[in-house]
Amino acid sequence: MKARYGWGFLNPIKGEKVERRVGQSLNRKTVSRLDMRAATYSCEGIMRVLVTGGAGFLGSHLCDRLLGAGHDVICLDNFFTGRKANLAHLISRPEFELVRHDVIDPFKFEVDQIYNLACPASPPHYQYNPIKTTKTSVMGAINCLGLAKRVRARVFQASTSEVYGDPALHPQPESYWGNVNPIGQRSCYDEGKRCAETLFFDYHRENGVDIRVVRIFNTYGPRMHPNDGRVVSNFIVQALQGQDLTVYGDGSQTRSFCYVDDLIEGFLRLMAQDETVGPVNIGNPGEFTMLQLAELTLKLVGGRSKIVHQALPSDDPKQRRPDIGLAQTHLNWAPTVPLEEGLQRTIAYFRTQLA
Ligand SMILES: NC(=O)c1ccc[n+]([C@@H]2O[C@H](COP(=O)([O-])OP(=O)(O)OC[C@H]3O[C@@H](n4cnc5c(N)ncnc54)[C@H](O)[C@@H]3O)[C@@H](O)[C@H]2O)c1
Repeated sequence: MKARYGWGFLNPIKGEKVERRVGQSLNRKTVSRLDMRAATYSCEGIMRVLVTGGAGFLGSHLCDRLLGAGHDVICLDNFFTGRKANLAHLISRPEFELVRHDVIDPFKFEVDQIYNLACPASPPHYQYNPIKTTKTSVMGAINCLGLAKRVRARVFQASTSEVYGDPALHPQPESYWGNVNPIGQRSCYDEGKRCAETLFFDYHRENGVDIRVVRIFNTYGPRMHPNDGRVVSNFIVQALQGQDLTVYGDGSQTRSFCYVDDLIEGFLRLMAQDETVGPVNIGNPGEFTMLQLAELTLKLVGGRSKIVHQALPSDDPKQRRPDIGLAQTHLNWAPTVPLEEGLQRTIAYFRTQLA
């Protein structure tokens, strides 16, 4: 039995470049399973990529970009907050596979890269079953790292600005260790993500796993879940439905909002470079109060909704803004979509959803 190779590829076991001419044959017995995978998927940079949480808001956009770049994508999701509708346009593509699976249970795939996004991201969703949320972050990280170690894949962790908690330092650089309540209602998410980062760096130091860690700041855009309780989707849905916009507290607390396309570009740049493993902040440093966001949403949607105030939820950070110096230096990355433009695109999406 002969295996045919038509390109040069990196031998993932020996870490050396193996050159093959088009049509050159090899005896299959001399070629390991990993060599075979590399031979198939390293052709002109084409890879097989696993995206956990790929049916969610960010994951579905990531799948789009990876497929657009010519890669094969396996999406693993348990559909807790993700939706098949986010992937409906991809289902019939032969380069795309959708697997219903929970990241807390082990899984095996022959892949070149892993993006670990599986985790509910909005407070109502991650507080619905907090123990499961911690398990998802921690056991999901262990399962992704174990797989990455076994198949020598580069593995990406979608961490979060929540690892900074209610920050005492502003804006937050990656070197800031954070101010996190370990026993509060948000702790299942914040501490779960912190532990996942710890695991990523321990697998890196102890086992040489090729990691990349990104800390994501508030991101918005089409395919956000309409009921996920995040402020941008809340305001837009309320305004489109003619309801009053709920601002917690006096609305002076600030957030920075990154449009989804900018964020995914940052993911891809982090995975494509060898200068840094992270953690790298990705977010938009433009800072807006909740009141400003509510007013801008009302201006863009129109209608007669008013702004109403409710009590602040516990542990709600007062200020959040990324220091993106590392992303600028190592990834040559900066956000490009202004808030007003991103909001217009997001409003257009929600109009179709609520029509
Ligand atoms: N959107 C943001 O602003 C933001 C900010 C910081 C961090 N993040 C991180 O980015 C990732 C994606 O966030 P998102 O906004 O797309 O959220 P999302 O809820 O839309 O997507 C999460 C996806 O993970 C899936 N999932 C959840 N638990 C799972 C499990 N146990 N097994 C398999 N799949 C599971 C969900 O079904 C969903 O498809 C999350 O890890 C989140 O913590 C997002």
